[in-house]
Amino acid sequence: MLKYDVIIAGSGIAALQLARRLQDQLNVMIITKNHVTDSNSYLAQGGIAAPVGKKDTVDLHVKDTIIAGCFHQSPETVENVIRDGKRIIECLINEGAPFDRRSEGNLALGIEGAHSQPRILHSGGDQTGKYLIEYFLASLTEKVRLVQGEMVYELIRNERGRCCGVKTKKGDGSIASYAAHHVVLATGGAGSLYSVSSNAPEVTGDGMALAFLAGAELTDMEFIQFHPTLLSLGGKTGGLISEAVRGEGAILINDAGDRIMEGIHPQMELAPRHIVAERMNKEILEGRKVFLDINPVKDFESKFPSITNMCKHHGISLTQGKIPVTPGCHFTMGGIVTDEDGKTTVEGLYAIGEAACTGLHGANRLASNSLLEGLVFGERLARHLTSAERTENSWTTSYRNPEQRQHRPEITFTRQELKERMMRDAGIIRNRVDLSSHLEWLKAQAFTFEEELDHMYREEIQLYLMWVVSMLITQSALLRTESRGGHIRSDYPIENNEDWFKRSLFLQNENHQ
Ligand code: SIN
Repeated sequence: MLKYDVIIAGSGIAALQLARRLQDQLNVMIITKNHVTDSNSYLAQGGIAAPVGKKDTVDLHVKDTIIAGCFHQSPETVENVIRDGKRIIECLINEGAPFDRRSEGNLALGIEGAHSQPRILHSGGDQTGKYLIEYFLASLTEKVRLVQGEMVYELIRNERGRCCGVKTKKGDGSIASYAAHHVVLATGGAGSLYSVSSNAPEVTGDGMALAFLAGAELTDMEFIQFHPTLLSLGGKTGGLISEAVRGEGAILINDAGDRIMEGIHPQMELAPRHIVAERMNKEILEGRKVFLDINPVKDFESKFPSITNMCKHHGISLTQGKIPVTPGCHFTMGGIVTDEDGKTTVEGLYAIGEAACTGLHGANRLASNSLLEGLVFGERLARHLTSAERTENSWTTSYRNPEQRQHRPEITFTRQELKERMMRDAGIIRNRVDLSSHLEWLKAQAFTFEEELDHMYREEIQLYLMWVVSMLITQSALLRTESRGGHIRSDYPIENNEDWFKRSLFLQNENHQ
């Protein structure tokens, strides 16, 4: 009879950090929708920020994080996370994690947007996520059960409202339910709700939707980060061109050869991402193309092997040193509200990594702070769970085939249509008219099948969860009548420093309030 102490949905760095810290003490299962390496963490290029350089300090890293986040954070939370993060990174360095070093043996620390110091640790040049995820996977023992190819589509709560398990669906439609004392959502953000995105296609906000439907509070959903430099392939993208490339000296030019960040911000190409993305968006809307001029970068191909391969794969020649770029959705600053240990507002349910809103990022995440956050909250939650009490669940794990389908939901939109509308109407620059008409469109697509999820195809459930998160982002974006960080309104272009605007918007499913 299988029952787990901890079920972790998702397999990015936060999930693996948690699992490796728990594996000797608790019975852990990781469930992931596709393959274990299908995550944004695995795709991470730039690296992990930590104040480990000689001239760097926790205070400087905290200051940079708060400025990039547009003061929409609690300084105490930021300081505690950076301090814990520094300690965890030092432990990883000491235990031999594969961070790049210079020829003389010192750590190779890069610089990225809005950082005042070189503090980005990286691996394999621009393959930090791949190297670290493989390192973490290698540290898991067979005690951790890994289930791949099952999508968590519902959180199970007992009569007292405590989360006590999950239901999953495989590609062939068969369903399973698993009981657990603790359920952790580490499912990542919602970047693939947008048609131009750096994210893995699996990253569609599932955990956020599941938590919302189970009654947990979410917050800051309007703050979406658009990374300035995705490889542009005529309206589509081939993937991310790391900010580390600009950190090594690359500049942004338009097709007339003008340096577009000139006079916009003192840090030029290394200004906070929302400022660079907004500027690029203006150029593109005015009919110009934008290029990353990599001529100033020495040894580009050896420093950035995976970007080089990506460009070659898409037929982009690097001989002229000009890579066509466009901004695209990259990171969800908001998410499931958690405390400093990763607890959500629903008992028995936890969230870590990008799915969570811990208060670290504010309105705009500082580059390379996300892997750091995953490591910190994976460790903190492990500490909490190893000391938490066990609860008794009255049901156990079971597998069954789908029942006869009685009601097919009527779905009136496609995944691609939703993504394109999100990009157009709730994207880099928003306004009331577009957001309102998008909200009306979303409402018109509402389908009522909550009690029928068991009978639905996986893609239908997937669309439903994407629709839920799109609603949350759009509603929040309409309510915040100012521009701040990753929320830019052309009709309210100024950051408003009245008290109301400094606060976060909290969302909770009215059926559970
Ligand atoms: C990048 O390499 O530019 C992305 C790093 C990040 O988003 O933190």
